[in-house]
Amino acid sequence: MNDVLPDEIGRWQRVEQIYARTLHLHGFREVRTPYVEPTPLFVRAIGEETDVVEKEMYSFEHHDDALTLRPEGTAGAARAYIEHGVQSREPLTRWWYAGPMFRAERPQRGRYRQFYQLGAEIFGDSGPGCDAEMIDMLVALLNELRVPGIEVSVNSLGGASTRAQHREALVGYLTPRAEALSPSSLRRLQSNPLRILDSKDPRDRDVVRGAPSIHEFLDAGDREHFAKLREYLDALHTPYTVDAQLVRGLDYYTRTLFEIKGAPEKLGAGSTLVGGGRYDAMVASLGGPDVPAIGFAAGLERLLIASDIEVPANAIDAMVAPIGASAVSSGLELARALRRNGIRCEVDTRGGSLKGQLRRANALGARIVLILGESELAEGVVQVKDLDAHLEERLARGDAVRIVLDRLVAASRSVDSRVPS
Ligand code: HAM
Repeated sequence: MNDVLPDEIGRWQRVEQIYARTLHLHGFREVRTPYVEPTPLFVRAIGEETDVVEKEMYSFEHHDDALTLRPEGTAGAARAYIEHGVQSREPLTRWWYAGPMFRAERPQRGRYRQFYQLGAEIFGDSGPGCDAEMIDMLVALLNELRVPGIEVSVNSLGGASTRAQHREALVGYLTPRAEALSPSSLRRLQSNPLRILDSKDPRDRDVVRGAPSIHEFLDAGDREHFAKLREYLDALHTPYTVDAQLVRGLDYYTRTLFEIKGAPEKLGAGSTLVGGGRYDAMVASLGGPDVPAIGFAAGLERLLIASDIEVPANAIDAMVAPIGASAVSSGLELARALRRNGIRCEVDTRGGSLKGQLRRANALGARIVLILGESELAEGVVQVKDLDAHLEERLARGDAVRIVLDRLVAASRSVDSRVPS
């Protein structure tokens, strides 16, 4: 679990802003659900035999409640969708969310026990058009975040009957080869053989190379859905590859499945930035209406490692420097007038030496320092130092705010939405 200190928060906020804007452009609205949900919700939605449910959930009992810190956002979103009868009010629902998730995994670079996800879910559209739109939106988002080397993989898992047939064929293929499997895959052979396809262990990779592909078992509807998805992606010129071995760690997926990787030299080739897919049966299986759904989630810490975006580190635009205790009151008043005009500023109410205050202005990235010493107070002026342009001038106190604002705007320094003074 990480602390995010103010020096790093600018990049977090920038990514969150770009994310929210992108999602709003696509008609998604924000939903906020609790960090804690009943444990059975995750067991039913994600699947009893998944790593997440078996090993990674932070679960606890409180009085008679079995509770879990959410390991992901989809189950909670589906619960909220059902609980509030959203389907009876709108046929199509597009929700996005951002927030912490919790999984007791072995920590490593890009893998944490509390991590942030940026996610979204669409309820009520079964067609491949929205699958393609979602993937295309994510590619555009990652490009805007300046993530190099984006690679999209797509696959189709078909529906429940396809999965059952594939599972049977897979067990039939793997059983005579069981001795060559890693111990953890051997354990999964009966409980969750599909996950063996996802193993990174070289012993398993060798065995699964010739395993039956799920594509052999897709029914006509699944095939048509997948063909249409590819057709739409081709028409949009969204780059992707079909990976017939792609499976994911959560059991709720049906039909479309996708993953996006990027920046392999920073993250390592195995690290996925975004994972998602269709889960057409989950809402009904949780006791809700028979509503198809698709969604994705991106790991925010991983996006930050992968992204080349930079955010200026300056915390303030201007520093008001009262020299001595007698100037503090005028300093507070001047700082208030600057802020009313959207200028980010700090006033050093300790009223210390000019040298110390200039040092602090520099450290905070202030461009302008407004100095109020004894002589300035007596004359009703303020001494304005422009640290970038190396200029110094004495301005009447009544004019200072307007002139400082003009200077900052001319230097295209971000000045917050201005409130007229
Ligand atoms: P997921 O693949 O489990 O999918 O997680 C999505 C993303 O969250 C991963 O690709 C990764 O970037 C990030 N992530 C997962 N675990 C960690 C971790 N321990 N540390 C850092 N980042 C992590 C889901 O969670 C699904 N709910 C996605 C979805 C939404 N499918 C349909 N709708």
